[in-house]
Amino acid sequence: MLDAAPAFVAFERVQKSYDGENLVVKDLNLSMPKGEFLTMLGPSGSGKTTCLMMLAGFETATHGDILLDGVSINNIPPHKRGIGMVFQNYALFPHMTVAENLSFPLEVRKIGKSDREQKVKRALDMVQMGDFAGRRPAQLSGGQQQRIALARALVFEPELVLMDEPLGALDKQLRETLQFEITNLAHDLGITTVYVTHDQTEALTMSDRVAVFDDGRIQQLAPPDELYEKPQNSFVAQFIGENNTLDGVIEEIKGNTCIVKLDSGEIIDAVPVNVTKVGERTKVSIRPERVEFNRDRLHDDAHTLKAEVLEFIYMGDIFRTRLRVAGTDEFIIKTRNAPDQTRLKPGEIIEIGWLAEDCRALDA
Ligand SMILES: Nc1ncnc2c1ncn2[C@@H]1O[C@H](COP(=O)(O)OP(=O)(O)OP(=O)(O)O)[C@@H](O)[C@H]1O
Ligand SMILES: [Mg+2]
Repeated sequence: MLDAAPAFVAFERVQKSYDGENLVVKDLNLSMPKGEFLTMLGPSGSGKTTCLMMLAGFETATHGDILLDGVSINNIPPHKRGIGMVFQNYALFPHMTVAENLSFPLEVRKIGKSDREQKVKRALDMVQMGDFAGRRPAQLSGGQQQRIALARALVFEPELVLMDEPLGALDKQLRETLQFEITNLAHDLGITTVYVTHDQTEALTMSDRVAVFDDGRIQQLAPPDELYEKPQNSFVAQFIGENNTLDGVIEEIKGNTCIVKLDSGEIIDAVPVNVTKVGERTKVSIRPERVEFNRDRLHDDAHTLKAEVLEFIYMGDIFRTRLRVAGTDEFIIKTRNAPDQTRLKPGEIIEIGWLAEDCRALDA
């Protein structure tokens, strides 16, 4: 498993303050094995770029250690860390051709001319830009420039590459193509990557693990499926994907189930995630696609609640239905558009249910 592999990149109790007063990174502990593709995901101002800048060496940590291959790099200047970088608007040198842009990091590293030419050619081929060596950046589209920026970060064969919203400025289709290319390249070359985005789909589709940031802390660090299916707190449950929440109070906790009395009066079972005591307030969370309303598809021991259909939206591949249930008008269910799937009508009264294991009692 990932945790057992020796750390290639490690943050140990790292804190950062810009003004000597407020910590924008509060207590970061993170350990990445070689070859991992890790994404830092989180709202604006949560500290993602700051973490990347500390790893790159452009900012210093106020407290704690950052280690690369087991060695503290706190006192190593950026250009000696051997890290490749791509940023959202990391400008290419406008007066240089594409080939000269790529050759530059090699010249800085005192690589000889014939080696340089060979490496530049290989890096350009890697991002399918071999025919553009002689152009200047202004003569390229945004996506092509971003490909060159990627090639420039890879040309000196770094073991670690940092990317900060590298696809932020591109349209959806190009983003998706490049997402695929970046992950393939990183895996093929065995590069360890720290990727920053606030696009959750991008994070889920590209990463081996995702670190969800909020308020200078990692709220959860997990592979994409675990993050989506087993959020550890209300912030992660709300931030990743769509989610229904019902407010209530813990009535009883027994091992890995608990009984919740909803504010609307109903009693349901849930998995106690980060609630610890009877009487504690909780937000119970259920994914829209885990809710069932066809009687014959309901599990025997599933709970049922009465619901009124408020809105039915046909979305092509799925149906999205909004319900009034347990005191909320914002309960969403999603069902696959299968030939035998019922299309609900506003005003209908139905019974909905789910498995207790899909229902998580989280902090209020
Ligand atoms: N150079 C700086 N000087 C002072 N404060 C800074 C500096 N850079 C960032 N901050 C502050 O630190 C906090 C974290 O900023 P950071 O850029 O790391 O967030 P982020 O997660 O990358 O956000 P975004 O998604 O908007 O890029 C913010 O409150 C920001 O205002
Ligand atoms: Mg940022």
